[in-house]
Amino acid sequence: MRRLMVAGNWKMHGSRAANAALLTELDLTLKAEWPIDMVVFPPSVYLADTARRLTDGVIGVGAQDVSAESAGAFTGQVSASMLKDVGCLYTLVGHSERRQLNREDDALVARKFAAVQGAGLIPILCVGETLQEREAGNTEGVVARQVDAVINMHGIGALAGSVLAYEPVWAIGTGRTASPEQAQAVHAFLRGRIRTQDANIATELRILYGGSVKASNAAELFSMTDVDGGLVGGASLSADEFQQICAAAAAR
Ligand code: 13P
Repeated sequence: MRRLMVAGNWKMHGSRAANAALLTELDLTLKAEWPIDMVVFPPSVYLADTARRLTDGVIGVGAQDVSAESAGAFTGQVSASMLKDVGCLYTLVGHSERRQLNREDDALVARKFAAVQGAGLIPILCVGETLQEREAGNTEGVVARQVDAVINMHGIGALAGSVLAYEPVWAIGTGRTASPEQAQAVHAFLRGRIRTQDANIATELRILYGGSVKASNAAELFSMTDVDGGLVGGASLSADEFQQICAAAAAR
């Protein structure tokens, strides 16, 4: 049985005071006995502080982005080993906002994926189509291309122990969630495609759904066979919403 995961991507929100308040509330409300992984993804300047506060292991810490390089003259970048050094366990790679706003292409995302694994962290590879791509009937083509970029560069074995996140771009921050059936269809497609190359990896692989997940729709989404949790944006900034989403995952 795959262990569900709920990941809270704070994006570029927060402050030392606001983070402290949120983490204190989460500490009080998230239950250590829930059989799921709960992780928060603060902006990089707050990672060390967040990791220092979360030492009991109930809530993990991850980074929203990472450099593909290991060290050197890369002003402004942060390496995977630095993220590990300050207490991160996970790193998102290929979030659609980075693909779109920072022009990250599939090849760069694949290099980042390997850098994360090389440092001993778990990459969460984000994939997803735009509204235009969905309407053109190209959803499967886009997510397949995004996953294949990693497989072609590093082999199918690279997906072992990693996490995928299906985040349709049209559902991010729009309040327009994919229906549970739409999410399930893409998750099943991804798992099926990976199964043709390695059945064990496909069975174990966790595929999270992201895009306007909230307390009111989480249980329905998590009830789908191939939806192994959520990558939550806006709703993860509310302790109450995040707690309810985690409770929904724990109850599946
Ligand atoms: P929202 O939950 O705000 O739609 O964001 C989803 C997301 O991009 C998480 O990485």
